Amino acid sequence: MFRILLIMMIACTVQSAKFPTDLEKCKYDDEKCYINVANTIMKRGSKGYAELGLPVFEPLFVNKIGIDQGGDGPVVLKLHMKDVNIHGFSGVKFKAIKGLGKNIDKAKIDLKYTQPIFQMIGKYTTEGKVLVLPVQGDGNCNITLVNNDCHVKLLTKKIEKNGKSYMQIDKIKFNFDTTDAKIVFENLFNGNKELSDTFNLFINDNWRDILKEIKPAMSESIAAVYKQIINNIFGNIPYDELFTE
Ligand SMILES: *[C@@H]1O[C@H](CO)[C@@H](O)[C@H](O)[C@H]1NC(C)=O
Repeated sequence: MFRILLIMMIACTVQSAKFPTDLEKCKYDDEKCYINVANTIMKRGSKGYAELGLPVFEPLFVNKIGIDQGGDGPVVLKLHMKDVNIHGFSGVKFKAIKGLGKNIDKAKIDLKYTQPIFQMIGKYTTEGKVLVLPVQGDGNCNITLVNNDCHVKLLTKKIEKNGKSYMQIDKIKFNFDTTDAKIVFENLFNGNKELSDTFNLFINDNWRDILKEIKPAMSESIAAVYKQIINNIFGNIPYDELFTE
C-alpha cells in the first residue's frame, strides 16, 4: 500500500488566457496536427506558455512530492522531496494523441510520448527499508531515468463558466517504462560516507526491482502534477476556442 503526500507546484496565474498566435489551431480529431502542436509546445519548455497557463517547465519546479510506501513488501519507504526541479520535458516527443474530439464530457483521451531524460533534482528526507537494507538520510538527491516510454490516460469532464464550456480532467493514469536509472542520495546515514556509497551502489545495481516497487506511487505523483498543469491550461480557454472547424 502506498500513500501520496502533499504535491504542490508554483501556480502560473493567467491574466487573460487566449490561444497563442504562434501555434497552429487544429481541426477536431486531427491527430497529426495535435502531435505537431504538442511537440512544438514541449520544445518551448524553458519559456513556458504563460498565455496558455503553462508554466516554465524546463525545469518544472515542484515544491513537494512525497511517497509513503507502507506494508510488508520489499520496499517500505518514506521519501519526501522538496524544491524539486524536474528536467527533461523539453525532450518530450508525442507519438499518439487519441480521443481528443468535440465531445469533452467523459471523453477518454490517450497520450503516448517518449522522454529521453526524466531527472528530478532536489532535497530529500528518507527513512525505511529497501530490499532488506535499512535506510535513513536527508540531503540532495538526483534521480535520473533514461529513455522513458510514457502513457497517459485521461477521463474528462465538462464544466460551464459564463455560458462557455471548458474541459477538465476527472481521472488520470500515468505509466512509464524506462531503460536505465541513475540515482544519487547524498548525505545518507548522517553523512557516513562508507554506508552512503554502499547504499547508492546497491540501489543503482538494483534499480529495476526498486522502481517496480515504487512505480505506482511515483506514477501517481507525476499524474497529479500533470493533472494540475492540464487543468490549468484547459480551465483558462473555452474548449471550442482551441480548435478550428
Ligand atoms: C544528475 O545525474 C545525472 C546522471 O548521472 C548527471 O548527468 C547530472 O549531471 C546530475 N545532475 C546534478 C545536478 O547532479
